Amino acid sequence: MAGAEAFRTSADAYDRHIGRYAPQLAAALIEFAGIEPGMRALDVGCGPGALTTALAERLGAANVCAAEPSEPFAEACRARLPEVQVEVAPAESLPFADDAFDAALSQLVVNFMRDAEAGMGEMVRVTRPGGVVASCVWDYAGEMTLLRAFWDSAREIDPERAAAADEGVVMRWCGEGELAELWRSAGLRRVRFGPLVVRASYAGFEDLWAPLLAGVAPSGAFCKALDEDRRAALRDAFQRRLEVGDAPFELTARAWAVAGTVP
Ligand SMILES: C[S@@+](CC[C@H](N)C(=O)[O-])C[C@H]1O[C@@H](n2cnc3c(N)ncnc32)[C@H](O)[C@@H]1O
Repeated sequence: MAGAEAFRTSADAYDRHIGRYAPQLAAALIEFAGIEPGMRALDVGCGPGALTTALAERLGAANVCAAEPSEPFAEACRARLPEVQVEVAPAESLPFADDAFDAALSQLVVNFMRDAEAGMGEMVRVTRPGGVVASCVWDYAGEMTLLRAFWDSAREIDPERAAAADEGVVMRWCGEGELAELWRSAGLRRVRFGPLVVRASYAGFEDLWAPLLAGVAPSGAFCKALDEDRRAALRDAFQRRLEVGDAPFELTARAWAVAGTVP
């Protein structure tokens, strides 16, 4: 499952799954990109709005716009930030004028784009010369602990289907340095690349597991499609691999970030 299809679900389930990491990641991406008050910024693939919220806090809601192809997510972002202009649109076709922003950002989105080169081209087009284009993606194959442990457990219980869906294998642009190559090939200058490490807290394993059953994101969709016995086996394997129980715990997650200047 690619693109926006895996995200036509409730924003609440997203917030309790991947979204748990999103506010910390947004703060780190904003620092990495050098977003400063006085700028006007666009959040591409905003989801329910974690990065949009952080941008609105730093720049003022009137200086922030967002685009998102999943209608439930765009609606959730609008409800949270009524003063932000949120458009239902994919990165590949942004409904904004040339040079409209000082910065275009996207968080955990490039690997979901149907055509990342076209999406990048649009982010560059709507950013003025001298402005910044920045993104981050999970290190799915390495140190995004939650998803790495999920797919390794899935491979134990349904090797063939899990191998075909493992985000550490199927997601483009998520290996170390790959985003920087995409940025350079889009003609961006002064390209910077580096890791962002964030944490999320869980009340216990059930708190981590429950949102997956809603089918959100590729991991949730995989989980939801399993029959009951395999889902129970996955739950056990996943919990064993994470070595957690009913007590509160934290997980860390690494993303790769990139930023470059529009010529
Ligand atoms: C992992 S979520 C990230 C959401 C949000 N940026 C965050 O950090 O919480 C991936 C998002 O990318 C969106 N998406 C999928 N395909 C897209 C495309 N072609 N252009 C823009 N966004 C897309 C999904 O609908 C989803 O909201």
